[in-house]
Amino acid sequence: MSDMLKSARFGQLPSFLILLGVLLFAVACNEDEGTPQTNPTDNALSGLDLPETPYNYSDITLPHHFRVNAFPARYRFQFAAVESDNTPSDNPTTDAGATLGRVLFYEKMLSANSTIACASCHKQELGFSDNEVLSLGFEGGKTRRHSMGLANARFYDTGKFFWDERAGSLEEQVLMPFQDEVEMGLTLDDVVRIVSEQPYSSTLFTNAFGDDMITADRIAKALAQFIRSMVSFQAKYDLGRSQVASPLDDFPNFTEEENLGKELFYATNLVAPSCASCHMSEAFVAPLLAENGSTIATNNGLDAQSTDDQGVYESTLVNGHRGKFKVPSLRNIAVRPPYMHDGRFSSLEEVIDHYSTGIQNHPTLQPFLRDNTTNEPVRFNFTPEQKSALVAFLKTLTDEDFLTETKFSDPFR
Ligand code: HEC
Ligand code: HEC
Repeated sequence: MSDMLKSARFGQLPSFLILLGVLLFAVACNEDEGTPQTNPTDNALSGLDLPETPYNYSDITLPHHFRVNAFPARYRFQFAAVESDNTPSDNPTTDAGATLGRVLFYEKMLSANSTIACASCHKQELGFSDNEVLSLGFEGGKTRRHSMGLANARFYDTGKFFWDERAGSLEEQVLMPFQDEVEMGLTLDDVVRIVSEQPYSSTLFTNAFGDDMITADRIAKALAQFIRSMVSFQAKYDLGRSQVASPLDDFPNFTEEENLGKELFYATNLVAPSCASCHMSEAFVAPLLAENGSTIATNNGLDAQSTDDQGVYESTLVNGHRGKFKVPSLRNIAVRPPYMHDGRFSSLEEVIDHYSTGIQNHPTLQPFLRDNTTNEPVRFNFTPEQKSALVAFLKTLTDEDFLTETKFSDPFR
C-alpha cells in the first residue's frame, strides 16, 4: 500500500526535477570513481590479483573414494586417502592462511637475486613439478635431484618430504628451498626480512594469523597450508569412479584400453603384486606407515647398486635404507615428465619398460619384486598391448581443473 503511495507521488514530480536528480546522481558517481582509494588494505594488495572473499582452500569436499576404502578384503594394505592425511593439529588449513601461502609460493623476491620463486621449479600446468631433468636455481645452478609434483602431498602418511624423506614435516620442508645454496640462496633471517618488506604482508599475515607479526614459523605454516590444499580429485579416473561401487569395476567412461590398464595396475595375479602395492589408495600415494615405524620409502629396482645417491640412507644412516626413495603420487603423472628422482625416464613408456623388463637386483629391492625361487628380480614382461594400456590408464589421472584452477595460480599482476 505505502509503495503504491510513494510511486504515485513520484509520478507527480515535475519531470525537470527528476532530470536534475539524475544529473546530480551521475556527477556524484563520477566523482566517486575519481577519488583515490583511501583504504590502506586495498593499496597494499594492489599488486595482487586476489578475490575479496578468499578462495576456498579449507572446506574441500573430497570424493567418496578418497574417504572410504572400497577395495575388497584381499587388498589387505589398501586404505582410504584420508587415513594418510598429514595435516598437523597446530596448522589446519584456512582460506586466509593458504592465500598467504599462495602469494609467498609465487614471490620471486624470495631468492638471493630476486629471480625465482618456489613456482619456478613447481609449475602448476606441470602438476607443480618441472619439465627439466634437474631444475635451475637462482644462479643457474642445477638441483641435485628432479623436482617433485606437489599434488596430494597432504596424503603421505609419515608426513616426511623430499625424495629421501629428509624433511620431517611439510612445515619443515618449505623453509629448506629458501636456504638451499643452489635453489634460492637466502638465510632464514633474509626470508623474514624480505617478507616483512612486502606491501601485502601486514594485511595477509593479519588475515591469516590475527596480527601482523612476521616469523619464519608463520611463513612455514602458510606455505604448508597452500601445498596441502593442492588436492587433485577431478580427473577422468574420478569421474568414472563416481559411477561404480568399486575401483576394480570397469569404469563406464573409460575406453576398453584404459579399463585394461586399470586392471593391470591393480592386479594381484601377475608374477608379483602389481603397481597398486606401492602406489596406493585412490589418491595414488605411498603405503601407510608400518607398525614398526620404519620408512615407507622403497626401492623399485632402478639400479643394481647405489652410487652417487643413497636415497633415504643419507638422512637416516640405516643401511637397509640405501637406494630407497619416497613413492611419489601418480596424480597428473602424464603432464610431468621426466620421471624418477633423477629424471632418468623421459616418457611413461620408458617407465613401463622399466617395470616390464628393467628391474635391477639391488640389495634393498622391495622383496616382492624378487622371485624367491630364482632370487632374480621380477620380470612382468608386459605385452605391447598391456604396456599401452598401462600408459593409457596413467593418463586418466590427469586433472585439468587442478592444472588450471585460479586459486593455485600466480596471483601477481
Ligand atoms: C630450483 C628449483 C626449486 C625451487 C626454487 C624450489 N623447489 Fe621444491 N623441489 C625441488 C627439487 C629438485 C625437489 C626434490 C629434491 C630432493 O628430494 O632432494 C623439490 C621438492 C619439494 C617438495 C617435496 C615434495 C614431496 O612430495 O616430498 C616440496 C613440498 C617442495 N619442493 C616445495 C617447495 C617450496 C615451498 C619452495 C619454495 C619455498 C620450493 N619447493 C622451491 C626444486 C625446487
Ligand atoms: C616396490 C614398489 C613399487 C611398485 C611395485 C611400483 N612402483 Fe612405481 N615407483 C615406486 C617408487 C619408490 C618410485 C620412485 C623411485 C625413484 O625415483 O627412485 C616410483 C616411481 C614411479 C613413477 C614415476 C613417478 C615420478 O613422479 O617420477 C611412475 C610413473 C610409476 N612409478 C608407475 C608405476 C607403475 C605403472 C607400476 C606398475 C607397473 C609401478 N609404478 C610399480 C615404487 C613402486
